[in-house]
Amino acid sequence: MDIRPVQDRDSLQAFHQVTAAAHAHDYLALPADPVEELLPLLEEKEQAGELVLLFLASDDVAPVGTLQLSFPTLDNLMSANLQLTVHPDHRREGHARRLLQFGIAQVRARGRSRIFMEVPSPAGGGDIAALALMTEVGARPVLEDYRRLLDLVKHPVGEPLRAPEGYRVVQWLDRAPDELVDGAAYLLGRMTVDSPMGDMEYEQEKWDATRYREKEEAAAARRRTRLATAVVHVASGAVAGITSIGVNRDHPEVVYQWDTIVDPEHRGHRLGLVLKSWNHQQLKEQVPDAAFVNTWNAASNTFMVAVNDALGFEPAEAWTQWQLDL
Ligand SMILES: CC(C)(COP(=O)(O)OP(=O)(O)OC[C@H]1O[C@@H](n2cnc3c(N)ncnc32)[C@H](O)[C@@H]1OP(=O)(O)O)[C@@H](O)C(=O)NCCC(=O)NCCS
Repeated sequence: MDIRPVQDRDSLQAFHQVTAAAHAHDYLALPADPVEELLPLLEEKEQAGELVLLFLASDDVAPVGTLQLSFPTLDNLMSANLQLTVHPDHRREGHARRLLQFGIAQVRARGRSRIFMEVPSPAGGGDIAALALMTEVGARPVLEDYRRLLDLVKHPVGEPLRAPEGYRVVQWLDRAPDELVDGAAYLLGRMTVDSPMGDMEYEQEKWDATRYREKEEAAAARRRTRLATAVVHVASGAVAGITSIGVNRDHPEVVYQWDTIVDPEHRGHRLGLVLKSWNHQQLKEQVPDAAFVNTWNAASNTFMVAVNDALGFEPAEAWTQWQLDL
């Protein structure tokens, strides 16, 4: 088996085909990223605090597996994230074991000593395969997640919940209003402190307006539209909470819940449900072709899970975050 960096459009196409076959085999309503979405990654450019590298594994005949490594560049400088996929027709041929060893070597070569790997448990027991691999390299499970799926045909978007007295709802597409960007960045920085992280040894991420703007630009370059809703505390002008949904402009049928956070100072006013119900309203108006919304939550995040239940999300499958210290 030969493993090479993905550096041109043909190998990117092959990368996409392997992940597309695996996703179609393993999941409901979780398509692989389309090629147009991956194109900017060919530049191997550090952006919004992250560097992403893609690799393709081929046997003598065809591409068989993919590896994605991402390196935080503003915080968590000792860590990397690793994701690998093997084509369903080529499983149990030892490709994942080789890709994992290759990925570990790449991470070590960049002087990093910790790897996070998010492993799904697709229907059919795929987790058993990954479990063996993770245990073999000495990784340990550190956080239990769940993917939930909202079927918008089965659960059409209802009326949004009114913001409580003293708060107002602000919505936008792609680019936050200038007066809210600092508040939005502050809340994103809190995500890694406030949301349950289990036993993950992950530092608080460093967010400011510059990084937030870069993140917006990176999404746009990847042909992803951001639908955002914030709740602003009228008296102070502070951003009390924020949520956003990502939509692929060419494939809007399946959309993705990105971050949702309410500032601890403003909790207890049902702002989580206010934010999400307004953002779903915006989704209905802006993206009429959206049929499914995906979201991931820590199993222990009972507050967020209750909000999602109220909106009609249903569990799809468990995901386990593994940590490997090198
Ligand atoms: C998990 C996955 C990557 C395994 O790929 P693979 O190429 O089939 O794995 P390998 O052939 O290298 O198998 C390595 C070991 O895993 C275990 N394993 C693999 N498939 C298994 C299965 N179906 N049942 C039980 N054990 C299995 C075995 O211990 C195997 O070693 P062995 O064949 O010497 O007994 C693949 O099933 C996949 O793409 N799943 C979806 C995405 C995913 O889970 N990615 C991991 C995230 S980092």
